[in-house]
Amino acid sequence: MSFASVLLLNPLNMKVAVYRREHFNAAHRLHNPSWTDEENVRVFGKCNNANYHGHNYELEVKVVGEVHPDTGYVVDLKWLSDLIQMEVTDRFDHKNLNLDVPEFHTLLPSAENIAVVVYDILRKKIDPSLDLKIRLYETARNYVEYPA
Ligand code: NI
Repeated sequence: MSFASVLLLNPLNMKVAVYRREHFNAAHRLHNPSWTDEENVRVFGKCNNANYHGHNYELEVKVVGEVHPDTGYVVDLKWLSDLIQMEVTDRFDHKNLNLDVPEFHTLLPSAENIAVVVYDILRKKIDPSLDLKIRLYETARNYVEYPA
């Protein structure tokens, strides 16, 4: 194998991160049914509001892997965008997460748990050779990342 063809296959064995941002808005309520109402208010404050409240969530999906020599891509971002929309935003957008999304029937829909759920959904659909990380912005200033 010539030096040139080695370069062509994988320039420096470098991994590259690609990102796709998607948006959804959804309602939720943080309420632990095993606590009293007073404990729930003390811990969750406004997020315990009985009639729910909404957030404009920004979802950032990071995929890390080697650049494929045939395409120059780590992953086709159109494919990734379609995947996120089909598996996550179509299911979460304009929904009440507690009531409408089965994953949260028994799981508090905190930003942390939403990020873990999104990761688990996408991880099954993305090639195992690629690393995946989820960042979820619940507000411009409050965001979580999984895996940490
Ligand atoms: Ni909230």
